[in-house]
Amino acid sequence: MLPRHVAIIMDGNGRWARMRGKERVFGHHEGAESVRACTEYAVEVGIEYLSLFAFSEENWKRPEAEVSELMRLMAVSILNERPAFMKNNIRFVVIGNRGRLTESLNRDIDAAMEETAGNTGLTLIVFLSYSGTWDIEQAAARFAASGAPEGRFSDYLATAGIPDPDLLIRTSGEQRISNFMLWQCAYTEFYFTDILWPDFRKAEFRKALEEFSSRQRRFGKTGEQITEEKNDSK
Ligand code: IPE
Ligand code: IPE
Ligand code: MG
Repeated sequence: MLPRHVAIIMDGNGRWARMRGKERVFGHHEGAESVRACTEYAVEVGIEYLSLFAFSEENWKRPEAEVSELMRLMAVSILNERPAFMKNNIRFVVIGNRGRLTESLNRDIDAAMEETAGNTGLTLIVFLSYSGTWDIEQAAARFAASGAPEGRFSDYLATAGIPDPDLLIRTSGEQRISNFMLWQCAYTEFYFTDILWPDFRKAEFRKALEEFSSRQRRFGKTGEQITEEKNDSK
């Protein structure tokens, strides 16, 4: 089975560059190529939602030069990719604490989101200045402020309307969630690989999807129940 929603913690750019005796930002540039390759592959195989963790709230603590290069790269990528979004029917969405971004980057993001809002293919969600704890806190504040909240708590998360991830991939050998979608990953399947993000291209993505299709998701039920349900639906 194909996951409907794949989320990726794109990690290892710095180490990839350092291994080549280059500056960390060189790895971020090469990582942008992996973003393009994985987005193309997601469109090709028909994934509905692709979530990419590009910059966490905690990443603001990095050296200023690296932060500003990452932000510049983001702005350049958005401008460069807009024609491809339209050509491939991709809806582009940015989620995160946008108040911390520059006005100019926010304008570029809004323009790309508006232009692609009507596209009906892949929804590409870039998490920028995002953390799971920030998301839950902002949702709780709005939930409480609404007096008589309508709907569910998850309708107040920044990801409202987006189904929870089925598969979460993390590259670079780290096995942690690093404050990504904490609430939303309650039943997500995790896939960890030692491959560094700049080396994670179509073949690696395919491997992760294959591994996912061999997993049995039980959501608290027994394996026998799941097998029965599968047989009944045949
Ligand atoms: C991931 O690569 C990109 C961001 C977090 C922005 P890193 O920059 O974290 O690379 P490593 O983990 O230091 O190798
Ligand atoms: C997680 O990577 C955040 C992104 C990929 C954007 P980090 O490199 O920041 O994670 P830690 O600090 O090693 O947990
Ligand atoms: Mg890292």
